[in-house]
Amino acid sequence: MAWARYAGRHMPAPLTLPALVGADLEVPLATGGRRRYINLDAAASTPAMRAVLEAVERALPWYSSVHRGAGFTSQVSTRLYEAARQTVAGFVGARPTDSVIFVRNTTDAVNHLAHCLRIPDGHVVLTTAVEHHANLLPWRRVAPVVTLPPPLSPEALLEAVAAALRDPAHPVAVLAVTGASNVTGEILPVAELGRLAHEHGALLAVDAAQLAPHRPIDMAASGIDCLSLSGHKMYAPFGAGVLVAPTALLEGCEPLLAGGGAVDFVTLEDVLWTGLPDRLEAGSPNVIGAVALAAAAATLQEVGMERVAEHERALLARARERLAELPGLVHHRLWEDGPGVDRVGVVTLTVPGIHHALVAAALSAEHAIGVRHGCFCAHPYITHLLGISDEQAGGIRDALRRGERATIPGAVRASFSIATTEADVDLYCDALASMVRDGPALAYLQDPATGDFAPVEDARVLPRIEPLPELTATVHGAGCGQF
Ligand code: ALA
Repeated sequence: MAWARYAGRHMPAPLTLPALVGADLEVPLATGGRRRYINLDAAASTPAMRAVLEAVERALPWYSSVHRGAGFTSQVSTRLYEAARQTVAGFVGARPTDSVIFVRNTTDAVNHLAHCLRIPDGHVVLTTAVEHHANLLPWRRVAPVVTLPPPLSPEALLEAVAAALRDPAHPVAVLAVTGASNVTGEILPVAELGRLAHEHGALLAVDAAQLAPHRPIDMAASGIDCLSLSGHKMYAPFGAGVLVAPTALLEGCEPLLAGGGAVDFVTLEDVLWTGLPDRLEAGSPNVIGAVALAAAAATLQEVGMERVAEHERALLARARERLAELPGLVHHRLWEDGPGVDRVGVVTLTVPGIHHALVAAALSAEHAIGVRHGCFCAHPYITHLLGISDEQAGGIRDALRRGERATIPGAVRASFSIATTEADVDLYCDALASMVRDGPALAYLQDPATGDFAPVEDARVLPRIEPLPELTATVHGAGCGQF
């Protein structure tokens, strides 16, 4: 089947970017009163696009079982689900010979891929220490992994990859890289990496969790063999993501998930798995999640990914200019700006003398600004950026293994979406400026269990979201395990 490319790819870019649900949300301040929420945490997860919500609302009356119901709504739901597959295929420039598998998210996609690819004995997976955990840990389960240290430039990355691909000591089966760093935003030269990988008979698997919401992707043109992405990072937080990979690579594999829908026939002793994509989608599929993801993909394509990129580059330039005025901030990045360096809207920094969790807590409590802090599910990369040696990292691991508390200094990350404005960036920079100058305005206490900070006096009350029970103020830590 030829994947239909979404017609909107060729339409002129609308002047405004799509609206997000909750764009005007007001949240309480610790001191009382309310303020418009400034969501600078898009790299972790995005609110839904209004167009996504509307598509979901249109689809819901027709929602029913797919692939297994004779009723009319089942027919509609099945068609919707398969149409969503085609739209997503068009969004990433998949080849007619690829399969699009709906999964939960990027982590799920990479786990499925690593499980399905039959990596020949003696071969390795090649990756870099810049990856987040979703693109490191699944590979370790299925093959020896060679992890390149964070490269100092795009050229250094290409040289290191080329050298590793030439090394006869460990033939590379898969080059697994992120499309864009979730910690520092750099966009990796995937087309060049694809060329290199293919010259040496390796596959290129791209974790596009951070790339897909921010830049155009053309798998066929850029030689990406396998691609993973999450709907919740591209304005469709309805529980679906995708794995796109050549059918020839996935067919015949023992599915990671066993269950109904993935089979042709089952006897008491045996199972006959069905073909793709159903083979890898056991259980009732997430039709509404798939519709949401396709609606987000179609809307982004209609806007034009170049228009999205232009918007985010302008915000990033503004943030960089404003933050450069603040003395003492440590701005973390993999590559210095220059020719050939492009990055998505991510700004990660540390404020010397103020714990990253305290900066984030004060931004929220005093300024209604939401950022992520900690290690961003990328421990090897963040420890590298923070100058923690491998030996020290091993010491932290050993202490945690013994059940002791260990300190992992993290950072503060602001990340932009299509809804972020220059005014939002300015408010963030103003808030940081006041923190650099005077520290947080309120008194805070650190929770010894999570490492998070909370104001000693806090007027904020969590909202009641009917019909769920009353929410409590207990929150999880930043994802570093300890602090
Ligand atoms: N990888 C996600 C992030 O960067 C979890 O926040």
